[in-house]
Amino acid sequence: MSVALITGGATGIGRGFANKLADQGYNLILTSRNLENLALAQKEIQNKYHVKVLIYVADITNESARKSLYEYVENYPVSIVVNNAGIGYSQNFYEGDITKEQEIIDLNITAMQAIFKYYTKKFYDLKEGRIINVSSVAGFVPGPGAATYYASKAYVTSLTRAVALETKHIKGLKIQAVCPGPTKSNFYLTSGTSKKYYKANPDKVAQKTLESKRTIVLPGFKNKMLHVLLKLFPTALTSRINYRIQKNMRKKA
Ligand SMILES: NC(=O)c1ccc[n+]([C@@H]2O[C@H](COP(=O)([O-])OP(=O)(O)OC[C@H]3O[C@@H](n4cnc5c(N)ncnc54)[C@H](OP(=O)(O)O)[C@@H]3O)[C@@H](O)[C@H]2O)c1
Repeated sequence: MSVALITGGATGIGRGFANKLADQGYNLILTSRNLENLALAQKEIQNKYHVKVLIYVADITNESARKSLYEYVENYPVSIVVNNAGIGYSQNFYEGDITKEQEIIDLNITAMQAIFKYYTKKFYDLKEGRIINVSSVAGFVPGPGAATYYASKAYVTSLTRAVALETKHIKGLKIQAVCPGPTKSNFYLTSGTSKKYYKANPDKVAQKTLESKRTIVLPGFKNKMLHVLLKLFPTALTSRINYRIQKNMRKKA
């Protein structure tokens, strides 16, 4: 049976993908930095879905850790990669901590790109495979108040769309980006926002993505509507509205 590799697979949206792929009979390799979270996910998924779950602790912002991960994964017939690990940070750019912004760039852009490239090349040669990059609706609009995060997701969506087109002639290769809206996870902790805004169910986000054949997946009616509205109204206006929303999200419940 095929294996799915999920970065950040122990919690939130990554865990949603782990549940849904296990339900489809995939064995899993889950990776993140936290062994405890990984071991808990492993136990729960194996008990519920009767598939094999392997866990691998790695900080994927570290290049040599990524290489070791590729070597480990090489032993298994991986056919789906969910490039999911990502963090946020909600703060005005003029007062924000550059270290946190750099962490976003290192994870959401550099690590995402390296893993994306590695498996694109691999699956391109094999002429089959599926890569799902986890982007965000944040990638469709500038994000004053969380500018680096929004820009990082614009990068993920743009890169994915371009690479999907470049590789379109390989029929067995599917390259997608999913753009969820606020979803229940630990994201509120890393981004410094209030938990109450994150309502979507990660399992549903994963289910809708796995069912979709589109390159850019908008999971759920609200996200589809938001995408249409963002296209209809001027960016100057939607950015201003977004700034207000971002500031409210920072207020603790
Ligand atoms: N929740 C939302 O509202 C929302 C909406 C749109 C898009 N997204 C995107 O969805 C993805 C998953 O986030 P989430 O919402 O599910 O939040 P989450 O529960 O915090 O998941 C993020 C995962 O990434 C892992 N991670 C963080 N830094 C890492 C590193 N340096 N190396 C390896 N793994 C690392 C975390 O595990 P460790 O900390 O243990 O390493 C965690 O498992 C992100 O790309 C996020 O931008 C989220």
